[in-house]
Amino acid sequence: MTESQTDQLPAQQVEAASKAFEQEFERFACFTDASRDLAGLDLDQAIAAERALAELRTRHLGKKSELAAVKKLIGRVAPADRASFGQLVQATEAALVKAIEEAEETLRQYIETERTARESIDVTLPGRRPRHGHRHPITLLRERIEDIFVALGYVIEDGREIETDFYNFTALNIPENHPARGELDTFYTTDGFALRSQTSTVQIHAMQRRGVPIRMIAPGRVFRRDTPDPTHNPMFYQVEGLCVDRGISMAHLKGTVTEFLRRMFGADTVTRFRPSYFPFTEPSAEFDFSCFKCKGSGCRICKNSGWIELGGSGMVHPNVLRAVGVDPQQYSGFAFGLGIDRMCALMYELDDIRLLFENDVRFWEQFE
Ligand code: FA5
Repeated sequence: MTESQTDQLPAQQVEAASKAFEQEFERFACFTDASRDLAGLDLDQAIAAERALAELRTRHLGKKSELAAVKKLIGRVAPADRASFGQLVQATEAALVKAIEEAEETLRQYIETERTARESIDVTLPGRRPRHGHRHPITLLRERIEDIFVALGYVIEDGREIETDFYNFTALNIPENHPARGELDTFYTTDGFALRSQTSTVQIHAMQRRGVPIRMIAPGRVFRRDTPDPTHNPMFYQVEGLCVDRGISMAHLKGTVTEFLRRMFGADTVTRFRPSYFPFTEPSAEFDFSCFKCKGSGCRICKNSGWIELGGSGMVHPNVLRAVGVDPQQYSGFAFGLGIDRMCALMYELDDIRLLFENDVRFWEQFE
């Protein structure tokens, strides 16, 4: 704005500034009356309007506004007109401020009410119960087994799922030409490591790390190239048990397994051992227990035999003790291993162990 313009038309300039404001303010006019019903305006829109209004205030009343420029001219107006011109500027400014402040107040109140409404909680409404998950049946069973053995003085070992030849076979006295080493039975990585096919590998790690005497169990996943069917999966869970000390005999093995099964299935559970063969135990035995459902009289679960097969066991082979630097003349021990998946299927009366890993929610909900 130049001085010559000012000298010519000071009052028109004030009017022009006022008009420009009115034009822009038009969209905020609806907020100048606090009693107005603002239904339909949502909280976000009201907040945006409040921000736009603040920008409008800066534009029309701020230091760089037209009105601020006009104010600077008051001193240059002819003395006779100065007072009335000054009053005109002040009145215009006051009108602008009033309009803006009214709109601001309406918006402020509206935003506050909306916020309170949005954040308020009806304490009389029933709560929404969060859906809780639950542990996998195999985990539940594993924890029960762990509790029993911990109470018997056993430690829990965590093994590795990928093993070298030494741990998976050699240290377990499995000969070079044994079929278990073949690719038809065991999964191998491209680097030639084996996915462990039994938790017996943990016997070796545990004795190497802890030395003897030792009492440990090792629950974990194992892998075999078995075709899936109702009683087989290529991935399943086992629990290994190992006890090595001076003077350990088959009697300790039988006593321990029997006590475990009694605590698991009831004091009247009967255990039986049948001769068997495992390269890492000598002598070896498979163990069965009297059916927990029919107590031995025969039912669907035990296939009318009265017995349920559970796992393998035996006295730790002297070659296994030698592989970890333990003298078999001084120490002896027993080991056992059982499959958790099949045990779980029996206990929950599942027809097919594959259900345990199919992740069908309808199946899981039955265990809640
Ligand atoms: C063993 O794996 C021996 N390591 C057990 C052992 C440990 C013997 C210590 C002596 C001393 P076996 O191959 O029988 O044993 O397997 C043990 C259990 O694993 C079986 O009784 C069965 O319950 C379970 N099992 C075997 N293959 C599968 C499979 N494909 N799917 C699900 N469970 C299986």
